[in-house]
Amino acid sequence: MLEPASPTPAISVNPELIFDVLADALVERGYAVLDDFFNPRLIAALRTEFNHPDCQFKTAGIGRAEDHAIALDVRGDRICWIEGGSAAAAEFLAVMETLRLALNRRLFMGLFDYESHLAYYPVGTFYKKHVDAFVGRSNRVLSTVVYLNPSWAEGDGGELVLYDEAGALEVEKLCPVAGRLVVFLSERFPHEVLPARRERYSVAGWYRVNSNTTDRVDPPA
Ligand code: OGA
Ligand code: MN
Repeated sequence: MLEPASPTPAISVNPELIFDVLADALVERGYAVLDDFFNPRLIAALRTEFNHPDCQFKTAGIGRAEDHAIALDVRGDRICWIEGGSAAAAEFLAVMETLRLALNRRLFMGLFDYESHLAYYPVGTFYKKHVDAFVGRSNRVLSTVVYLNPSWAEGDGGELVLYDEAGALEVEKLCPVAGRLVVFLSERFPHEVLPARRERYSVAGWYRVNSNTTDRVDPPA
């Protein structure tokens, strides 16, 4: 009798090599772009998460708990935090956990946990230039974005633009193509999402360090 086919792995059959490439890129340039990091099966499953009834999308805000404000002139995406309740979300979080441990082993980054949300940009929306973490003031140290958009074409807009630390020079402009993973040091790269001319789907996430100290407890994100 035939064994049931085991599911294709969520990422490459030889992830250690890919983790090496990623770690080297982070050391050399502070960011990495890995195409086809996730296999198409998981990408498709994550895409269907957007239709999941448990996923209550809300208009994303800016700032932390106490000064949380909705600012459509800054960002127009709608987000839903990932809790890991569905199979696809759990598989995604398991991969990101493997990646967390792999980076800690290679770079001693002390990454402590990971938070992530689905993000949907309706046509015409964008996210103006911003940093995900202010130097010394946040525990977000490494930003990740996974894209879920099959056959994204040149004129579809919605590119992620990374700038140099001063926010002046464009370092990289990336289309949000399905399977692509972008990882960058949160404090070092101001970045923006250009207006999307098609509906744009992604998962944004942040590895954090534990920055609770005796005199300061991190506020809720
Ligand atoms: C963010 C962000 C980039 C992208 O959610 O903070 O910058 O390409 N996302 O979706
Ligand atoms: Mn960002």
